[in-house]
Amino acid sequence: MSLQEKLEALKHETLAKIEAATDLVALNQIRVETLGKKGPITEVLRGMKDLSAEERPKVGSFANEIRDALAESLEARKEVLEINAMNEALAKERIDVTLSGKQMPIGTRHVLTQIIEEMEDIFVGMGYQVVEGYEVERDHYNFQRMNLPKDHPARDMQDTFYITDEILLRTHTSPVQARTMEKHDFSKGPLRMVSPGKVFRRDTDDATHSHQFHQIEGLVIDEKVTMGDLKGTLEVLMQQMFGADREIRLRPSYFPFTEPSVEVDVSCFKCGGQGCNVCKQTGWIEILGAGMVHPNVLEMSGIDATKYSGFAFGLGPDRIAMLRYGVNDIRDFYHNDIRFIHQFKGE
Ligand code: DAH
Repeated sequence: MSLQEKLEALKHETLAKIEAATDLVALNQIRVETLGKKGPITEVLRGMKDLSAEERPKVGSFANEIRDALAESLEARKEVLEINAMNEALAKERIDVTLSGKQMPIGTRHVLTQIIEEMEDIFVGMGYQVVEGYEVERDHYNFQRMNLPKDHPARDMQDTFYITDEILLRTHTSPVQARTMEKHDFSKGPLRMVSPGKVFRRDTDDATHSHQFHQIEGLVIDEKVTMGDLKGTLEVLMQQMFGADREIRLRPSYFPFTEPSVEVDVSCFKCGGQGCNVCKQTGWIEILGAGMVHPNVLEMSGIDATKYSGFAFGLGPDRIAMLRYGVNDIRDFYHNDIRFIHQFKGE
């Protein structure tokens, strides 16, 4: 076989190998084997010195031609394989962006928190500040400063859990009145505050009683505050909570810390006053206690009762939530049954 024939055969053989190469590593192997320093073509070119002067250029240019053809074919095949490799990677690493994601469960605020915040918003809109009190309170603030001295008979209605004789779980949010009054600087303007929070009583738990429940206390003190201001304020609150058509009604009552004291009813939001199961056929729903702050309470907090007057009220968010959502058992609020809690998704 002549040298040319050998080279020709090498070319065909190598082209076939290149065509058959399925990956870049194999292709590189072929390149090194055929075109590399120890490859057959280099060998032919190196052996040219033994050829005759007339054969040498012919063989030389033929060998170069073959080398160029192979290099070109290697390059073309390399491009194809690179594109294939990329397509393969793309297919393998493909992300299906249309797949639905993992559902992240979103919690919900407790219905009582929702009610309390809703009422806070209404009062903040009327210029009140929201004040926090202490759940563990002194007898002094819970009772004495609210005009309930030791052995006052009205203490019976509010028995509680005692930590010591002087420290107890507060029975109402009213002690926040005394704590706020004694700190207030009237040269900076009137006192307007609401204070929501937990309260505790030594009650037997039943559908309408829980040893722990909530109250929102309200207090306004300024010169010339009247019962008309109280009525107007509570009317706005009830209309915002239960609908623009609501009316309120005041009935005389008794609380040691207010004089006069009233029990406040709101016209039934369900039947509008006709009588139904919510209002027990009366057309009215008892909703809160209120009154004009007793002069004793003012004086004990260092406020001149001849110059200042005020009103106060206390209402129960638990009861409001029960009425509004038809919850029959107050204890449902405190069992932390997630199915109950999730019924009040809010906004
Ligand atoms: N503290 C009272 C209670 O728990 C509720 C109350 C009534 C608060 C009249 C007041 C008020 O501020 O004026 O039964």
